[in-house]
Amino acid sequence: MTEIDAPRLIAAAREAARNAHAPYSNFAVGAALLMTDGSIVTGCNFENASYGLSLCAETVATARANAEGRLREVVAVGIIGGIMTDGVAQGSDPIRPCGRCRQVLNEAAQLGGRDLAVFCAGAEGDAYETHRLSELLPHAFGPGDLGIG
Ligand code: THU
Repeated sequence: MTEIDAPRLIAAAREAARNAHAPYSNFAVGAALLMTDGSIVTGCNFENASYGLSLCAETVATARANAEGRLREVVAVGIIGGIMTDGVAQGSDPIRPCGRCRQVLNEAAQLGGRDLAVFCAGAEGDAYETHRLSELLPHAFGPGDLGIG
């Protein structure tokens, strides 16, 4: 794996999680996408009073990259989350992307021709896990299956 500043991504994800709209789960999540030019695109979870409409942080970040015309530029993602106490996410247990978000991230990965590095951390602490999207979502269905490249 080429050198990626995972702590920088995790810090950006933690900053993004401060804007989580999560009054129903009380669980804040932040995601930070590292782009090919070294910039970062972030997202946080965005819940809805109609619970099932809620959006995850990774999905928001990926849609944001797409809205900027940069879906093919994603190199890596940092993800953090934790239960909020007094509005602040806490805990050092790492969280991993949900199944839907793995599929959403796969859209960026396959279109960009990269197997994304996925750094998973908690809301606090220095510990993080390093994964590959292909490990988290093996044998993925993607744009290539529909002839889109
Ligand atoms: N959540 C994310 O933002 N990303 C994930 O990968 C897992 C779950 C959010 C959805 C919901 O707002 C809260 O975490 C609790 O499930």
